[in-house]
Amino acid sequence: MDVVAMGPGFGAELRGVTLVDIASDDAAYAAARAAFEEHSVLVFRDQEVTDEIQLAFSRRFGPPEVTKVGSQGTGSHFVILSTIGPDGKVVPADHRLSLRNKANQLWHTDSSFKRVPALTSILSGRIIPANGGETEYVSTRLAFERLDAGLRDKLQNCFAWHDYAHSRGQIAPDLASPEERAALPPQCWRMVWKNPVNGRGAIYLASHAYAVEGMPPSEGKKLIDELMALATAPGTSYLHSWRKGDVVMWDNRATMHRGRPWPAHEARLMVRTTISATEADGVGAMRSPSSQAAE
Ligand SMILES: [Fe+2]
Repeated sequence: MDVVAMGPGFGAELRGVTLVDIASDDAAYAAARAAFEEHSVLVFRDQEVTDEIQLAFSRRFGPPEVTKVGSQGTGSHFVILSTIGPDGKVVPADHRLSLRNKANQLWHTDSSFKRVPALTSILSGRIIPANGGETEYVSTRLAFERLDAGLRDKLQNCFAWHDYAHSRGQIAPDLASPEERAALPPQCWRMVWKNPVNGRGAIYLASHAYAVEGMPPSEGKKLIDELMALATAPGTSYLHSWRKGDVVMWDNRATMHRGRPWPAHEARLMVRTTISATEADGVGAMRSPSSQAAE
């Protein structure tokens, strides 16, 4: 297995290894896991991907999420990101599926609005548009390391509130349904996620974040906006242009990503599996003392 670094300071392609190898071989998994901790975004090209292979690979990294209410694939371990309607045709631009794709085009980390946040997401490209539809990544670890020492210290003891309805509300006021709102109450997380393997911190924010605990709303929003702008500064991203057979996995603790647009008449179908963060991944230190007291 070769680890070929490719991004601006993060991201690597793993060559000479398949998802099946990693699913079935302890040494291959250990090498891939080490690369994941180090590089934050891993790209696998020319893979033979089925749902079963993707899930077996994903399970290596931890417990798979069950897809939330209101998403395609609900109740299974798969999130289906598609613009293809039940009739097999591409849906119009104002369709709910299209609006959800627009929400995915905001910078975010997956599942920060859930009771258990995500360690990693694994995305496979099944139907890829001829133009556009890339996924763009930034390293919130490198962004954290760009901050001055004073702000780094301060952030380690700050907590931000994340709400699915907040990010969806930026696209359309009712995009988060009443069922989704009921199932996904706001969550409060430390604003720096420290990787237990290498000790490096990363800014933990997303389009879902709307307030900082203990700060007046406008001040908290300003801090979030400043950090989001810094973390997504031009020239710091890796843009993944999808080819058939591509699988990309990323560390939700240390990156943000966004989907890029593509011509609305072109079909796109992606399948995501998502692995929950466990104590070994550092999730315990992310919970705010007040939420721990409430449990
Ligand atoms: Fe995402």
